[in-house]
Amino acid sequence: MKKILVIHGPNLNLLGQREPEVYGRVTLAGVDRLLKKLAQAHGISLEIFQSDHEGEIVSKIGASRQSADALVINPAAYTHTSVAIRDAIAAVKIPTVEVHLSNIYAREEFRHRSLIAPVASGQVSGFGEASYELGFLAAIGLLRSKPRRKK
Ligand code: DQA
Repeated sequence: MKKILVIHGPNLNLLGQREPEVYGRVTLAGVDRLLKKLAQAHGISLEIFQSDHEGEIVSKIGASRQSADALVINPAAYTHTSVAIRDAIAAVKIPTVEVHLSNIYAREEFRHRSLIAPVASGQVSGFGEASYELGFLAAIGLLRSKPRRKK
């Protein structure tokens, strides 16, 4: 069974209460329920990880080299700042989909640049909870088209 690792970055544990006008009313538990349903329906093994700490996210990505076939990540604020997370994704060479609840290109200018996008297979941004759904389906698609990890 193929495995997808989903990583939620900093402050995403606060979804539901955090700036609902930007991120909607969905909670992280709600997002995770959706992902679990999708994984079950598609016969995918799912691991979900949330951390507010850059180093923990870097370590998790590094460890996933052994354990995951694809990665779906919302790096949250680290999208715009983290060379370390970008380098971890580039190092493990696991097909990666970057997701954002909000449309980062329609927001403040500092959010327009993603350091992660160049090392991801693609990005889904702006569809709320559905960004995760679309991103997860995209990751499944990558597993089908690239059954082996990128060299
Ligand atoms: C976010 C967008 C980021 O700019 C922001 O820092 C977040 C959430 C999103 O899902 O829309 O924390 O990644």
